[in-house]
Amino acid sequence: MSESTLRVSGVSKSFGGVRAVRDVSFEAHQGQIVAVIGPNGAGKTTLFHMISGIFPPDSGQIWLDRTRLDHMPAHKVAGCGVARTFQNIQLFSTMTVLENVMMGHYRHQRAGLLRCITGYSRREDRETRTAALRHLSRVGLEDKADLAAPGLPLGEQRLLELARALALEPRLLLLDEPTAGLNALETVRLGAMIGRIRANDVTVLLVEHDMNLVMSVADWVVVLNYGEKLAEGRPDDVQNAPEVVEAYLGHDNGDAAVQPDPERIGV
Ligand SMILES: Nc1ncnc2c1ncn2[C@@H]1O[C@H](COP(=O)(O)OP(=O)(O)O)[C@@H](O)[C@H]1O
Ligand SMILES: [Mg+2]
Repeated sequence: MSESTLRVSGVSKSFGGVRAVRDVSFEAHQGQIVAVIGPNGAGKTTLFHMISGIFPPDSGQIWLDRTRLDHMPAHKVAGCGVARTFQNIQLFSTMTVLENVMMGHYRHQRAGLLRCITGYSRREDRETRTAALRHLSRVGLEDKADLAAPGLPLGEQRLLELARALALEPRLLLLDEPTAGLNALETVRLGAMIGRIRANDVTVLLVEHDMNLVMSVADWVVVLNYGEKLAEGRPDDVQNAPEVVEAYLGHDNGDAAVQPDPERIGV
């Protein structure tokens, strides 16, 4: 078995009386795509926030190889090679498409933010532009480099967020509903892109409601329901597990394939 890249161990988080994540444990090995699925409110985004250091868990531990991530601030977690995209797209709205990706690259270069502000080195700036263009071309947006980021259609904004995350050269990439707002063709393209990211030995955690995408790209699926881990396993096994069908449909209708109930998953 490959070295374990991410280990989430007994992690819990409450907001007031809401137990958003309860004692969740799972592992994602290097180069794997692990999908985290579950109905709206299941705790998926909360789990991502804890892994990426936006807030600490109330209890439990999160490890990336031999580094303990829980209780590290987000910028330090990013420095450990963890990049993410957001369910609600978060781009720098006054910047161009290329500049957004350059910001991801500057973060990769540690003292980069200062350089970014002071324009410290022209050579580095050129290198950063070149790298940013390369990341943009990975998502097919190189022709849009000089446009204002907010002017892009939603689907392309999602791709831009992905390019910015890739510019961090991550070891672990967290994608929170990356296909929300994408059309069918863009969704298929994004699936292929995620497959190519994995080929570079990046571990991908994917929150996704599109079951076709999950079943086609994921190596392993973790199912959350009301904050708890309901099941985990290979995509085919999880898809057929009665408790998973029950959680998605509210009853077991004997149909093996999981077809998410749009009301519960909010699509
Ligand atoms: N910042 C917050 N403050 C209070 N409650 C929150 C907060 N974030 C999430 N929750 C609650 O935690 C639960 C899990 O939410 P979330 O992690 O966003 O679920 P998912 O991403 O699976 O839809 C929900 O009941 C949600 O209302
Ligand atoms: Mg969410």
